[in-house]
Amino acid sequence: MGRFNLILTLSLLSLFLFFPSPTLAQLRQNFYANICPNVENIVRSEVTKKFQQTFVTVPATLRLFFHDCFVQGCDASVIIASTASNKAEKDHPDNLSLAGDGFDTVIKAKAALDAIPQCRNRVSCADILALATRDVIALSGGPSYAVELGRLDGLVSRASDVNGRLPAPTFNLNQLNSLFAANGLTQQDMIALSAAHTVGFSHCEKFSNRIYNFAPGRPVDPTLNRTYATQLQAMCPKNVDPRVAINMDPITPRAFDNVYFRNLQQGMGLFTSDQVLFSDGRSRPTVNTWARDSQAFNKAFIQAMTKLGRVGVKTGRNGNIRRDCGAFN
Ligand SMILES: *[C@@H]1O[C@H](CO)[C@@H](O)[C@H](O)[C@H]1NC(C)=O
Ligand SMILES: *[C@@H]1O[C@H](CO)[C@@H](O)[C@H](O)[C@H]1NC(C)=O
Repeated sequence: MGRFNLILTLSLLSLFLFFPSPTLAQLRQNFYANICPNVENIVRSEVTKKFQQTFVTVPATLRLFFHDCFVQGCDASVIIASTASNKAEKDHPDNLSLAGDGFDTVIKAKAALDAIPQCRNRVSCADILALATRDVIALSGGPSYAVELGRLDGLVSRASDVNGRLPAPTFNLNQLNSLFAANGLTQQDMIALSAAHTVGFSHCEKFSNRIYNFAPGRPVDPTLNRTYATQLQAMCPKNVDPRVAINMDPITPRAFDNVYFRNLQQGMGLFTSDQVLFSDGRSRPTVNTWARDSQAFNKAFIQAMTKLGRVGVKTGRNGNIRRDCGAFN
């Protein structure tokens, strides 16, 4: 019996030694309390400056964090610039909405931290991005929350890794659920995180199928509000300049709020992947609850963001602290 237990213990131990799961990494609040005690104030102050210059900082930073975590985990791999020998994540064709203001926010905050001798090269770019994301949400009226920290920066960033890892605007509920489940996120988490579309914009080509060629004999998606569809057609004529940007929340585009869910109730979700949350009976009850109860939404959103921030975290030899967020050391 004792011998059996010993063998069991040894084999369990070897499982942990030889198959360390990156998702088991322990993040904690106040990780930098002794390393760089002022990290949160310094990041917030840089993010606030950037926010005052341009509102695009908000959706750009949020989008960057989401993309970072879904592709190779929250390890700032999305910030790496391509080199002659490596095409990095940020240069995948799906990057169109990764507006440069998100990258710039992280780079400015990193520079401010590096100006303090105690903090210089002690805070990871991945953690800076996680903090900056919390800050842009709060600055635009959303909930604030304590951010778990202690991520390292990843050592790999490949454009090819982006394939199939990000939700497409055409996704249905099953496709959304399975992609989020692959990252340890539930349908509730997915619906909460989708509400990030309460800020930000998109380009016409991402939803033109819904207003021009939905199905044979039925050009307009029937789940789209008729008035809204007409407005979208006016803003996105068939030969539209691909740079034209359309607000994803047409009612309160600069407020992080639960109007996103009220829009869905009126058929004003911009993407198929937004509107389906209301048109599919499995997710509609959650949309209805959060449309009337912003406190319940905020709570679910914080929980989902915290779980998102744990995806694929790098520790030990899987990562390091980058001296330049845009290049490997
Ligand atoms: C997106 O990728 C293209 C190349 O595919 C690149 O030219 C562009 O700078 C990238 N955009 C951003 C915001 O990084
Ligand atoms: C379409 O949107 C308008 C507001 O723009 C709203 O009054 C109307 O109820 C909506 N229609 C449907 C079917 O939800």
